[in-house]
Amino acid sequence: MSWTKAERYRSLRDVSALEMETLRTKTAASPWRFGYHIQPPTGLLNDPNGFTYYNGEYHMFYQWFPLGPVHGLKHWYHVTSPDLVTWTDRGVALVPETTEDSHGAYSGSGFVKDGELHVMYTGNHRTDDWTRHASQVIGVLRDGKIERRNVAIPDVPAGYTEHFRDPKVWLEDGVYYAVVGAQRTDETGCVVLYRSSDLDEWTFLGEIETGLEQFGYMWECPDVFELNGQHVLVFSPQGIEPDGHQYHNIYQSGFLIGKLDVETLTFTHGVFGELDFGFDFYAPQTTEQGGRRVLVGWMGLPEIEYPTDRFGWAHALTLPRVLTIEDGSLKQRPVAEMTTLRQDKFVNASGKSVSVATPERYELEMKTDGSDFSLDLLQVGDESLVIRYDASAGELTIDRTNAGEPFATEYGTTRTKAIHVTSLHVFVDSSSVECFVNDGEAVATLRVFPSELEKQLRYEGATASLTGWTYQ
Ligand code: FRU
Repeated sequence: MSWTKAERYRSLRDVSALEMETLRTKTAASPWRFGYHIQPPTGLLNDPNGFTYYNGEYHMFYQWFPLGPVHGLKHWYHVTSPDLVTWTDRGVALVPETTEDSHGAYSGSGFVKDGELHVMYTGNHRTDDWTRHASQVIGVLRDGKIERRNVAIPDVPAGYTEHFRDPKVWLEDGVYYAVVGAQRTDETGCVVLYRSSDLDEWTFLGEIETGLEQFGYMWECPDVFELNGQHVLVFSPQGIEPDGHQYHNIYQSGFLIGKLDVETLTFTHGVFGELDFGFDFYAPQTTEQGGRRVLVGWMGLPEIEYPTDRFGWAHALTLPRVLTIEDGSLKQRPVAEMTTLRQDKFVNASGKSVSVATPERYELEMKTDGSDFSLDLLQVGDESLVIRYDASAGELTIDRTNAGEPFATEYGTTRTKAIHVTSLHVFVDSSSVECFVNDGEAVATLRVFPSELEKQLRYEGATASLTGWTYQ
């Protein structure tokens, strides 16, 4: 189905209860609805937004187009959790209805000020001739709704295009900083920095100079934070060409580790690393609580059709991951709270060959002696998702070629990472797999749309131990 502008830019305010009910029924009839991931009630979810710990709970918002699986008028949906694992639905928090956000309340971040949860997000406006105008808006969460407070940054500074969005705010030495994803007028991507002492007046400090002068045409969703004594800049560059095993998705998400100097606006750093080597990961955002830095990404990518589209919904958020820097390397581990979801053990075996029927959703821990293996997940007949390790090449491959209903095949059906593998930690939900390698050294996230029949796990190769728990 192709959507007209009028259909895409409809607000939730213009939708009757009956129409919403019809959309909910269509979504509920879908196979592949998740068990323990954040997913939209109807329509399309994209970036995580406003991820903040506030009043004893984690607050997560996400980009939401309620009316179908397309990138239409973006609202913010809201969920909360005491533990990052069980989430309570709080409903829509932000319906775009001002001039600034007339064409979408785009991505932004959260922070606590004076005991209230604030957000800063991008107002996406289009003029009658469809010219884009971006501004950065501050809002406050009151009674479950984000109330508009002020337009903090009304215009784009000289030297940049209207692709200027996704502010991430942090407080340092009593001063607020916001990093914004930008495109220079020569159509290359970068990030810029603002400062404010009162959230009303924002001073444009300039562009953060990195060693990546020419690295794609737009940097979306920047995030800056301190981690184990260093700075990390996370961002999602668009327009990077595949290079060896890297950058095969339509857009990338990665990080730089180094030192940010907010006075000289320089960021000295090591090489750009991809955050995830799977097929479906984009636009992550982090928050910090109790000394833990937690990252959540969008388990999807723009401009790709997914099999759930025909049921009127699309995408989910990834599981939360804890970030650390150890011996100079970024580690990503699933939050420890995940183990509270464990139910019965459906497998507890060791050897060179294991075959077992699996529940629809589960967690699997596997340790090997470091030699070759092949792990088939979601196997029914000829169908399976294959995770294959070639020890002599030192390469781990995720093969989605025969894993269920095909999609996005123009971007390839395998992903490979050079890594010496001794353990996997895998989370399977009804239509996703998240595979952590070697206790957080690498992660691969992917969607998969398997048949509804009972599935098997088949392992063959290196001497290994496998333990698996059913999830609801
Ligand atoms: C990233 C992104 C952001 C933008 C939002 C709009 O996926 O394009 O740059 O704010 O999605 O939904």
